[in-house]
Amino acid sequence: MSDKIFIFDTTLRDGEQVPGCQLNTVEKIEVAKSLEELGVDIIEAGFPISSPGDFNSVVEISKAVTWPTICALTRAVPKDIEVAAEALQYARHKRIHTGIGTSDPHIRYKFNSNREEIIERAVAAVSYAKKFVEDVQFYAEDAGRTENEYLARVVEAVIKAGATVINIPDTTGYCLPSEFAAKIKYLVENVNGIDRVVISTHCHNDLGMATANTMSGLISGARQAEVTINGIGERAGNTALEEVVMALRSHHELGLDTNVNSTRISAVSRQVSSLMNMPVQPNKAIVGRNAFAHSSGIHQDGVLKNRESYEIIDPKDVGIDENSIVLTARSGRAALKHRMHVLGVELDKEALDKAYSEFLKLADRKKEITDDDVLMLAGAHRTNHRIKLEYLQVTSGVGLQSVASVGLNIAGEKFEACASGNGPVDAAISAIKIIIRRQMLVKEFLIQAINKGSNDIGKVHMTVEHEGRQYYGFSANTDIIAASAEAFIDAINKFVK
Ligand code: KIV
Ligand code: ZN
Repeated sequence: MSDKIFIFDTTLRDGEQVPGCQLNTVEKIEVAKSLEELGVDIIEAGFPISSPGDFNSVVEISKAVTWPTICALTRAVPKDIEVAAEALQYARHKRIHTGIGTSDPHIRYKFNSNREEIIERAVAAVSYAKKFVEDVQFYAEDAGRTENEYLARVVEAVIKAGATVINIPDTTGYCLPSEFAAKIKYLVENVNGIDRVVISTHCHNDLGMATANTMSGLISGARQAEVTINGIGERAGNTALEEVVMALRSHHELGLDTNVNSTRISAVSRQVSSLMNMPVQPNKAIVGRNAFAHSSGIHQDGVLKNRESYEIIDPKDVGIDENSIVLTARSGRAALKHRMHVLGVELDKEALDKAYSEFLKLADRKKEITDDDVLMLAGAHRTNHRIKLEYLQVTSGVGLQSVASVGLNIAGEKFEACASGNGPVDAAISAIKIIIRRQMLVKEFLIQAINKGSNDIGKVHMTVEHEGRQYYGFSANTDIIAASAEAFIDAINKFVK
């Protein structure tokens, strides 16, 4: 058995399914290119039948990357498979990922079917996909709760039909590591033809065991791990790429390794977190802000004497440069550009000039510019909105009614309005509504501080309902009233064309 573990990244498919994490095609291409640079073997680029946007993203990612295999997801449905094959037409290396639920609850309630019919449908899907591509991966959805003997029959049948990779998802994140290990071992020992295919793990984190289950699967004979950056994914998420890669690299005795260039991990983690507006929890393994921060005196003392006393990974191995230049108001444009590059962001000259002038304003207000601030500045120039906030003036205070004056620039024309509200954000939003004159309702409104301190940047996430549909808006600013107005405008730009 080979000791190479294939890394199958599904950030752009399973990860992107998370509400609020949707990316546009340009952003998906940016992530796909970073994944290529990181060294992943397979990129699951989308579920083409699900929407024209997903279809288009698979097409464009196929054109944009060279080395990784591009994979497209389907159900065991002929039309899905045809559309996936069409979306993959430009991919240099292509794979169709088709499958069906195999657990009793899926067979009974989702398909109102029986075990024999599910095997027939699985075989038919793989055989049909083989007409379009050589590389066909089959997933047995909810394999985690599928009885091993029946799972082995399904797997044997689809291997006969030509499947090249067999994905064993723990869709509900139910398994214990020992149970998942036993499942993979059972397939290795009982399925005819299993030595001709690659077994894949796809673990969800509902019980916090996604990485443990993935590792158990690999130790038991699986040779592909399905993962996402930062463990992003449905509900509690998927297995985190960085955790599996670094667990394998830290345990040489397993004799297993990947092609991943681990020094890019930190940059890609930040890029995905920033583009998807999904903060990484500070204590997240490998990529959390505190992952390498030692605060207790005993630990600091130990690390200063010898890093290995309390660290099992050298931060440099995951791209954390301890000697990184501290950005202040005296830093030049080149320093800002370099920091952005380290963080995985490339801006063109015009965008960099704008980001730099805002960097100088921010640096005047904050003593030290953090990486999150830099990413916020980079993100501020990524979008090309038709409606822009020109100015915002708010009067508010205890015992006073809040009043806001707003100036908007809509496709080059200036509009102004003034409104009162039950607080400064309400007043600003009411003034914007006077100008836009559409039915709009703020459904969700969340403010987060990026770091700490009263001079910190606030991130605002907002969901706005318009004509029965929900639109997501985001902004970050040291002024949370301005960030709220900008997030509202960001959402409006998605439906006012
Ligand atoms: O969790 C799951 O079962 C999946 C499949 C579609 C592979 O994401
Ligand atoms: Zn999944």
